Amino acid sequence: MEDLEILKNKAREEIKLAKEALEVDELEAKFLGKKGILRKYFSWLKSLPPSERKKLGQKLNQIKEEIEKAILQKRKELKEVPSREFLDLTLPPKKVTFLGRLHPLSQIFKEFIEFFLRLGFEVLLGPEIEDEWHNFDGLNIPRDHPARDLWNTIWLKDFKGKLLRTHTSPVQLRAMEQKKPPLKVIVPGRVFRYEATDPSHEIQFHQLEGLWIDKNISLVNLKAILTLFLKEIFGQEVRLRFRPGFFPFTEPSLEVDILKDKKWVEVLGAGMVHPNVLKNGKIDPKKWQGFAFGLGVERLAMIKWGINDIRLFFGNDLRFLNQF
Ligand code: FA5
Repeated sequence: MEDLEILKNKAREEIKLAKEALEVDELEAKFLGKKGILRKYFSWLKSLPPSERKKLGQKLNQIKEEIEKAILQKRKELKEVPSREFLDLTLPPKKVTFLGRLHPLSQIFKEFIEFFLRLGFEVLLGPEIEDEWHNFDGLNIPRDHPARDLWNTIWLKDFKGKLLRTHTSPVQLRAMEQKKPPLKVIVPGRVFRYEATDPSHEIQFHQLEGLWIDKNISLVNLKAILTLFLKEIFGQEVRLRFRPGFFPFTEPSLEVDILKDKKWVEVLGAGMVHPNVLKNGKIDPKKWQGFAFGLGVERLAMIKWGINDIRLFFGNDLRFLNQF
């Protein structure tokens, strides 16, 4: 009988809170209507032995009457209050307020950063206008090295040797210059490439760089952290592929893909920091070692939300942005 009491109180409460006649009609249908809750109890009565049927039948009738009374009472009350639908044409129009929200990329960055903060990483930022040393030479990519072709660079004509950074990896060197090891940093930021745009390539996009230098860091730590991270973002069932790659600033290097709609999508590059890079950052590679990774933020956001064109992120189309 107890759940009938709860039902009764729930009905009374909801009727009490109703503010419009339409709501009362809906509540009447919900509790007393042909497909209403009480009707289900009444039909259940038939399956009970006669003694119980009588007792429960009385109780149900009593609840029904109380709900009917409450509805009647509410209808009376609502009639006494002036209608909310009254239209006063002399009033000034209502101001429509649109609430702002974070851009989807900011939202996903926040989620990524929170994950790494929990693992003890700290956030470091670097300049978007970089010099050649930090973006290339210091990362073991000398001038004329064919690997430079991987990063189609936007050079600043009026500032010799300056460029729009092509990745967040230059901040690895900046971290080494600013801090003593052990180092455990992440670097969120915008990067630029002189590339033809298509649904998965933009001229500007975002990366999250990670760097962990300590005495005992290996690829095992790298794989564990990246797996943990990607499973947190995409769920335990996400399919990952770690495959060998090449970056002049890591050795060995690898790339990670995620299976999306039966296709592998490359989402990040990573590896063990090359001894030359450690030397350039004034860190002794005989004492210290570590891993680094750089992930493509838009690519991950696209997989997470099923976005099929990277260019939507920068189009400022409200029909797109309002979905997040
Ligand atoms: C790099 O930029 C390396 N700095 C990553 C790295 C860091 C390797 C640390 C080792 C250690 P890559 O060019 O592959 O690597 O870019 C990294 C990710 O950025 C890619 O996996 C992809 O997700 C994304 N990306 C690359 N180019 C574009 C583009 N044009 N538009 C959107 N996303 C891109």
